[in-house]
Order: sequence, then C-alpha cells, then structure tokens
Amino acid sequence: MKFNTLRPRRLRLSAPIRNMVCENTLTVHDLIYPIFVVSGNCIKEEIPSMPGCYHLSVDQAVKLAREIYDLGIPAVEIFGLPTYKDDVGSSAWDMTSPVQQAMMAVKKNVPNLIIVGDVCLCQYTSHGHCGKLCNHYVDNDATIELLSKIAISQAKSGADIIAPSDMMDGRIAAIRSALDRNGFQNISIMSYAVKYASAYYGPFRDAADSAPQFGDRRQYQMDPANSREAMKEIDLDMEEGADIIMIKPAMTYLDIVRQARDRIDRPIAVYNVSGEYAMVKAAALNGWIDERQIVLESLTSMKRAGADIIITYHAIDAARWLQK
Ligand code: PBG
Ligand code: ZN
Repeated sequence: MKFNTLRPRRLRLSAPIRNMVCENTLTVHDLIYPIFVVSGNCIKEEIPSMPGCYHLSVDQAVKLAREIYDLGIPAVEIFGLPTYKDDVGSSAWDMTSPVQQAMMAVKKNVPNLIIVGDVCLCQYTSHGHCGKLCNHYVDNDATIELLSKIAISQAKSGADIIAPSDMMDGRIAAIRSALDRNGFQNISIMSYAVKYASAYYGPFRDAADSAPQFGDRRQYQMDPANSREAMKEIDLDMEEGADIIMIKPAMTYLDIVRQARDRIDRPIAVYNVSGEYAMVKAAALNGWIDERQIVLESLTSMKRAGADIIITYHAIDAARWLQK
C-alpha cells in the first residue's frame, strides 16, 4: 500500500490551495432569472408555492429587471399570465399581452439585460396543453405554426433569445425559418431540447395557471426513465439549428447533462425548476438546511456536470451571495 505517498489532503490544506485546484466555478454570468408577468399596475404578489418569487405587473417587472441587471445577472426569462385563454392560445402572440408588453418595457428601460422568451401554449390555451388539440391529441404540425407566431411576436417585442418549451417535433427548424424570414437572423434559439414529463413543474403550473385540464404531458414530454432518447432529441435540435441546448429539470438529470457535454460542442443550459426551488425553500424556511450553502452547492454541481447556463429562481440570492 502506497497510501502515504499519495495524499489528496495535501491539496486541501488551506483556502488558497483549494482555490488553486478548484475545477469549476459558479459565477453570476451563468445565471438566468425567470419572472412571471401579469396585467395591471403596481402588482407584486408572492407566489405561495414559490416563496420569494412574485407575480409582477409590467411596471414592477421593469423595476425588478433593473435590480437584476445591477446585480450582474445577464438575463431574465419572461413568463406570462394572459388576460384571456382560448382553444388555440391566441393570447400567446397578442402584442398587448403581458409578456410582449413586459419585453418592450424591459428592452426600453434596461436595454443591456438579455431577454429570453419562453415559447409555449400551455399558459394560453383553455385546456392547458402545450399545443393545438385534435380530439385529445396535441396536433404537432399545426402547433409548430402557432409557436412560430409566438416567436415572431416576442422577437418584435424585444426578445434576444427564443426558448421553445413545448416539445413538438420540428419546432426548432420551423421557428428558425420563421425568424429568418422576418429579418430576425440575430435572434438565438435556446431549445428546451430535453424536457422530461416531471412532477417537479408542479409549483410553476400553479404560478402560471398552466396545468393541463385533462390527462398529462407524456405524449410530448420525455419519459424520466430515458437517456438515449435525450441524445436523439439533442441531435435533432442541433441539426435544426438550436444555438443553446437546454436540459430540464436540473438536479435529477445531471447524468443527462454530463452525457450531453461529452457529446456536443454547443452551450448547454439547465433549468433548475420550480419544484426543486420549492423543496429547498421549504426546508430552509423550516430551518432544516443552510439555504446559502445548499443553493451554492447545488448550482455548482450543475456546472460540474457540464452546464454553462443555469436558469434558476435562486439567481437573485445566489448573485448576492457570490458578491461576498
Ligand atoms: C411551459 C413550461 C413549464 C416550465 C417552463 N415552461 C411547465 C410545463 O411544461 O408544465 C416549468 C418551469 C418550472 O417548473 O420552473 N411549457
Ligand atoms: Zn407548455
């Protein structure tokens, strides 16, 4: 046994030496903060299942966007609660809807903050599914036409990155060509390429009022048991022109992040979703865990797995903690 010549603890002796051999660093530049916008004025209402996150009217969203920018967080992702829903989700591309209005206002007031637009239909359809229905089936090809309309409306409103989260086949190619045809060659696409049918989206669906009114999303989102299929989804979205590949949720799918990192050369994002956030918050509010350490450890593990970008409701707290 040569244990006494190989002593890994030598490189852990002091903070400077630990810093010197540190392999992965979480920085504020990695973070995207998601916000939920609603119609009205002066509204800032806490979301019960997501303590510390709010429903914001456009004026409040702009105020928060400025704080986010001042903290050094480079981007926000904007979700919205529309004022009306119908069977095709037409409020999703209505230029007077909260999302489009918020994009215009944030772009005008905080021009250097990157705006990411979530493109999906579930918040906007009366049935809560992520596309146009044909009986109880989401009609893929009819849906990608509608998604393209949403993408264009968001690009016109000031979105810098379009992030389709619906999981229809072929939507990246359709959205890319629609953006290009409309003069938006410089708008990037961050594809929710690998989105699992996950119970971790529960708090988000309360917050966004987007739960399906019947059935579930398993005919379009992925089976949590599968990883080869995740690589297939990534390959297709790469071919179709996705600039950034997203994997979602984060914590329970870090093996997928690692596989993707070893396979592709484009930036990888993870979405640290609402249920992951809610569990940490609940334990922290009970005093059962050290929130700061748990969050920074979790976010660092996403970097270690291979993520370049982390979409997280912890972004504001993390940015403050990273400053110290
Ligand atoms: C909409 C969408 C969802 C999330 C982001 N975009 C929910 C879903 O697919 O039901 C989840 C985000 C979160 O849980 O934080 N398609
Ligand atoms: Zn959806």
